[in-house]
Amino acid sequence: MTSATTRPASDYPPGGDAFRHRHLIGIAQLTPWEISYVLDAAEQWVDMNRSGAAKHDDRLAGLTIINAFFENSTRTLLSFEIAGKRLGADVVNMHAAQSSVKKGETLIDTAMTLNAMRADAMVIRHGSSGAVQLIADKVDCPVLNAGDGRHEHPTQALLDALTIRRRLGRVEGLTIAICGDVLHSRVARSNILALTLLGNEVRIVAPPTLTPPAMDRMHVTTFTDMDEGLMDADVVMMLRLQNERMDGAYLPSAREYHALYGLTPKRLEKAKPEAIVMHPGPMNRGVEIDSGIADHPTRSTITEQVEMGVAVRMACLDILTRRQRGVAGWN
Ligand code: CP
Repeated sequence: MTSATTRPASDYPPGGDAFRHRHLIGIAQLTPWEISYVLDAAEQWVDMNRSGAAKHDDRLAGLTIINAFFENSTRTLLSFEIAGKRLGADVVNMHAAQSSVKKGETLIDTAMTLNAMRADAMVIRHGSSGAVQLIADKVDCPVLNAGDGRHEHPTQALLDALTIRRRLGRVEGLTIAICGDVLHSRVARSNILALTLLGNEVRIVAPPTLTPPAMDRMHVTTFTDMDEGLMDADVVMMLRLQNERMDGAYLPSAREYHALYGLTPKRLEKAKPEAIVMHPGPMNRGVEIDSGIADHPTRSTITEQVEMGVAVRMACLDILTRRQRGVAGWN
């Protein structure tokens, strides 16, 4: 029950500013009600995408959005592209592998070049933590972080929160187990920040070599035993084993990792019977997650997460470009 003095942390403050940020760099910059504000804004786009009505909304017409990706992506790049186009923007993609970055151009020179083209918003993915903030400090338009190193992937955490809220009816007061390669995961970091902020119990389940130090400072409980960590969980969020970021011997073998930390039907029995299973993708099937669970028609939310990704990115582009568009109250 909620009284006037015990408002949920995610309620907007009465008369308060809902979302005044120029950029979206990380969940760390957000309050619980700002997260809720984005999720509420995204809800309308879920319905409008499903009905086809979103194709007739051109509120970003005349704006140019540049997606500059210095790392590979399928979901984030395409959903930002679809999100921008669905709202009427001109969207151009810069893949670093086919750009002058390959000729040795620096990150800042690249950013200043894009800035000179008068983009109205930039969506950046980069392999180095902090690179997106560096660009945001230099350019004239809003910058959205599409994943920077091990730091943050804020739109992934927002789409995950929306998926949980739609599936379980709320995204507070839940027990959420985030399992696997937490050490290398910006998805885990953004989700820990968002889900603890919204008032959930967050558990980290990982081998000691893939558990970041000082996790207690992030208000989570750590487990090295998968069965213990999954006990009575409402949400099981599996993470990809990020072999490309492992420069040392973190694991004996993928086979042994699966034996200890792979999500199998038997292991999932430890969680609540109605627990949902999430994965940000791309997946290593048969390593961190069995195919039978990944493709499960009721337990798995993996394709729904992708769908929510388009809606959340539409909401973020809409909110962050309000100043450029002179929307009343935002200029
Ligand atoms: N979840 C995610 O960021 O996927 P991509 O790397 O395909 O964008």
